[in-house]
Amino acid sequence: MATYTHYGKQADVFKHLVLCEVLQIEKPQIYIETNSASAIYQMAHTPEQQYGIYHFLKKAREEKPLRESPYYKLESTEMAKGNYLGSPALAMNILAERTSQYLLFDIEKDALENIESYAKQVKLESHIQTCHTDSLEGVIKLLPSLSQSSFLHIDPYEIDKKGISGTTYLDVLIQATQAGMKCLLWYGFMTENDKIHINQYIVNRLEEENIKEYTCIELIMNSIRKDTIPCNPGILGSGILATNLSQEANKAIWDYSDMLVCMYSDTKYKSYDGRLYRDNIK
Ligand SMILES: C[S@@+](CC[C@H](N)C(=O)[O-])C[C@H]1O[C@@H](n2cnc3c(N)ncnc32)[C@H](O)[C@@H]1O
Repeated sequence: MATYTHYGKQADVFKHLVLCEVLQIEKPQIYIETNSASAIYQMAHTPEQQYGIYHFLKKAREEKPLRESPYYKLESTEMAKGNYLGSPALAMNILAERTSQYLLFDIEKDALENIESYAKQVKLESHIQTCHTDSLEGVIKLLPSLSQSSFLHIDPYEIDKKGISGTTYLDVLIQATQAGMKCLLWYGFMTENDKIHINQYIVNRLEEENIKEYTCIELIMNSIRKDTIPCNPGILGSGILATNLSQEANKAIWDYSDMLVCMYSDTKYKSYDGRLYRDNIK
């Protein structure tokens, strides 16, 4: 049984909505994902999913750009069958066979088997390669063999923890960015103190490495507090850090994060203030 339990929660909506838009624009030759988890999940209709994907699907119908987004189209079809698509399945549906190779890392065998079975279903089994290994080590080793037309999706939650090799997931993004690849990294936090710490880490490391061009946008729940956790809809804040993307893809991150803030402007999670605000990290 896969241990990823955040599928269909609000932070997944932000991450997956943006991922789908960006992939549709960038159309990479090779798609690499460091923390793939499963391709498809069975929905459970929890309050957290209610605040996430169910709220999104209901509200997105009212807004043309959202109703016409690939994320809405894919998830609404699948949700009608009681399922939610995770990032490997979303990538496969959007990029299809135009992307010659999908390299999908995870340390959980079950998650990779789920991906393999889904790839058969969408007839992409000859395009995918699952990698049952620690991606901090695996992706660093792989980087020299990858071309600039590769797209790296880094989705670990914690981006500042060093692995056995002494590198962090932000280091992976830095090396891939310096090699010219397109990168999208997602991270999360539960308190304002965690946010401050992670923001300083990102800004300082990118400055040290002379990476000036990037987009880093966060969506944070109004209910977040300095150092306590008042409620748990999955995560209280999450960010997307993107490098080497086209202007159009960067604009999509701004536009769609803005639409989500509007969509959550009158929302509650249980009895808590469910509104979101946006922050631009520079
Ligand atoms: C945040 S989830 C990924 C969610 C997925 N990318 C999505 O958006 O649908 C985290 C996944 O990372 C995997 N994971 C944790 N540590 C890892 C590591 N060192 N290398 C590769 N995968 C790892 C976990 O097994 C889990 O399936």
